[in-house]
Amino acid sequence: MYDERTMRVVVLISGSGSNLQALIDGAAADLPIRIRAVVSNEPSALGLERARRAGIEARALNHRDYPSREAYDAALGALIGAFEPGLVVLAGFMRILTPAFVARFRGRMLNIHPSLLPEFRGLHTHRRALEAGEPVHGASVHFVTEVLDDGPVVLQARVPVEPGDDPEKLAARVLKREHHIYPEAVRWFAQGWLRIDEDDRLWFGSQLLLQPLGLDADDRLWFGSQLLSQPLRLDAAGKLGLDSRVVLNM
Ligand code: GRF
Repeated sequence: MYDERTMRVVVLISGSGSNLQALIDGAAADLPIRIRAVVSNEPSALGLERARRAGIEARALNHRDYPSREAYDAALGALIGAFEPGLVVLAGFMRILTPAFVARFRGRMLNIHPSLLPEFRGLHTHRRALEAGEPVHGASVHFVTEVLDDGPVVLQARVPVEPGDDPEKLAARVLKREHHIYPEAVRWFAQGWLRIDEDDRLWFGSQLLLQPLGLDADDRLWFGSQLLSQPLRLDAAGKLGLDSRVVLNM
């Protein structure tokens, strides 16, 4: 399964690690990644156990052992760097990152956030979405840039709010969808299809994307109102074959 086309990945977690599990399961199937290490700032994180169970190197790096955020991020960066990852995946890593850390892994670091970004950056997204009376909530996979929860969004899952929802019920339904969108976005990155440029613009193959793709409840892929055929393929020009009215720079 692991060959030279398999991308080396380091996953950062703080808690349960259910998104990590989705990536572990994906890698055991056909996801072209090799998870070299899982690192948690919380030594008791369940996700470390998930990693060990899968035979993946599991490291705890407790932020409480460091005098400053800068010192912690420097140690974290060195630890991650030793595994020479092509991609760093933040999967419920509950830390604000220093600019130096972000710069080190810029363009090869993805995060998943439980809202339809740019809505509801930060914490307590499910409660805030309910309080705002949103009819639809969801999750976003995005590149990590210097501003928290702000980098270009690659893929989103929309999750309708249901009558009787409370933050826990809504969070559970969103989390299930996270497990579908994160491996998909990681697959695209590992295949070399995704990148951000120095102006934080998002490129999919040779196309500049000004809005994220969307995965619906039936795992169908959309770009705006255009349904994309799956599995996704780029044409000879490195394009998605999207309607030129919805994509710039074709
Ligand atoms: C997810 O909701 C993710 O969007 C957020 O933190 C949570 C992590 O859950 N960033 P898990 O640890 O992957 O189960």
